[in-house]
Amino acid sequence: EEIQANLQTNVAVSVFKEISSTNDYAKAFSKKNILRCPHLFVSEQQTAGHGLHQRAFFSPKGTGIYMSILVPKIKIIPAKEGLITTGTVVAVINALLKFYPTVDFKIKWINDILVNHKKVGGILTEVVNGNLVIGIGLNLNTAAFPKQLQFKAGDIKDKRLINRDLLIAMITNNCLRMLKNYQDGQFLPEYGKRLETLHNKVIIKLGNRSISGIAEKIDNNGSLIVKNAQNKLETISTGEVVKVASPDNLYQG
Ligand code: BTN
Repeated sequence: EEIQANLQTNVAVSVFKEISSTNDYAKAFSKKNILRCPHLFVSEQQTAGHGLHQRAFFSPKGTGIYMSILVPKIKIIPAKEGLITTGTVVAVINALLKFYPTVDFKIKWINDILVNHKKVGGILTEVVNGNLVIGIGLNLNTAAFPKQLQFKAGDIKDKRLINRDLLIAMITNNCLRMLKNYQDGQFLPEYGKRLETLHNKVIIKLGNRSISGIAEKIDNNGSLIVKNAQNKLETISTGEVVKVASPDNLYQG
C-alpha cells in the first residue's frame, strides 16, 4: 500500500541544517511575524534541544527527527491543555505505525514515546501569546547515546530506510487534524491502551514534592489519576513520572 500524506491546509515550511531548538526558534518567530497559516520548522540537528522539566533532548545529525509546528491563534482552554499533548502523542504514533507497522509503541505519561521501555520520542507543547508550538523529537536510529542516557533512551530498532519527509508531513497532518477538536479527547482511549504507566507503582515529581502510588487511569483532560498511600485519588495534570515499577519491569524514566 502506498503511503500518502495529503496536507489538509497550507503549511509554511522552514528547514535548517542546524539550530539551537526548533521550539525556541518557532516561539521567537511567532513574536516577530504575522502568522497566516501553520508553520513547520524542521532541523537536521539541534545544539540545545530540550523537553519538559528542563530535560535536554539529544539531537544528533542524521538519526532523528526534530520538528516544531507553530499554529497561530488557537483557542486554548487551560484545563484542556494536557489534551494537546496527549493528542499529539497519539497523532505521532499513528504516523509512525504507517512506516513501522510491527513496532509496539508505548507511552510514558504524559509526553514520552517508548519502545522496549526506552524513550524514543518526546513531545513539548508550549503556548506563547495565544499561539501554539508543538515540538516533536524522535530517535529513529540513534545507536549511541551519551552515557547518562544509556538506560533511558533508545531508538526504533527498525533498520529499514523510510521516507523521512513523508513521515514529517504525515505527523504534521495528523497533528493539525487532531487540533480541530482536541477538546473532545477522542484519542484518549488509544492513548490509554498504549500507556505503560497505568496500573504500575509510580513516583511523580511535582516541583519540590513528590507523590507515590498506583497509576489508576487517565481522566477526560489527560490527567493521571494516582491512588496514593492513603488510598486517596489524586489528579496529576503536570509532573514528571520518575519511577515506574511492576514485577517484571523496573526502570527509571
Ligand atoms: C521531552 O523530552 O520532554 C520532550 C522532548 C521534545 C524534543 C523536541 S525536538 C524538536 C523540538 N525542539 C526542542 O527543543 N524540543 C522539541
